[in-house]
Amino acid sequence: MELYIDTANLEDIREIAHWGILSGATTNPTLLSRESGNYDEIICEICDLVGGPVSAEVMSEDAEGMVKEAERLVSLHKNVVIKVPMLPEGLRAARELSKRGIKTNVTLVFSANQALLAARAGASYVSPFVGRLDDIGHDSNAILTEIVEVFSVNEFSTKVIAASIRHPLHVTQAALLGCDIATIPPAVFHKMVKHPLTDKGIASFKADWEKAQAEA
Ligand code: E4P
Repeated sequence: MELYIDTANLEDIREIAHWGILSGATTNPTLLSRESGNYDEIICEICDLVGGPVSAEVMSEDAEGMVKEAERLVSLHKNVVIKVPMLPEGLRAARELSKRGIKTNVTLVFSANQALLAARAGASYVSPFVGRLDDIGHDSNAILTEIVEVFSVNEFSTKVIAASIRHPLHVTQAALLGCDIATIPPAVFHKMVKHPLTDKGIASFKADWEKAQAEA
């Protein structure tokens, strides 16, 4: 499973990109609204930092407007992928963009049927929001399982991005269930890398090494 970063914060992206584990990034209007600066420039910088697909969302409510916005966004950088909302107009836009060879990520997906519609519309990616499903007491694991299975039995090439990740267990579950990608907030990356036994082990190796050096 590939790992994307789910933020528009350049400092956080720079830090995690240095770990050498990122394959792409996702942004959304809320994440961009938290940053200061020119959004087009931020998107381009994210594209350069991650060196892979970067989802940027369109805000129009009709397919024609979405396609127009998409054409402008993809002209910013070759790595831009267009996020369209899971709506009838979003599906129309995904179909048209797919005809034009523009990659799309259908976002705000909460069911296997929505994912099926997105795949049939020619979406390159679908983003089921696991955290928001769990927030309202739904079983995000069951829905991810259905989506992965529907795509597998139908031989869809659309990739599944587990999104709205809230904690490290969501990442493990997405990987176990066969998602292609998990898009992860910086704070969750930091939780994933840490383990108290790792810290304890490093401290005791260091102490033993220094003791042996002092005695030599
Ligand atoms: C995915 O592409 C979205 O940007 C994101 O995962 C939304 O997550 P949230 O539910 O934490 O806002």
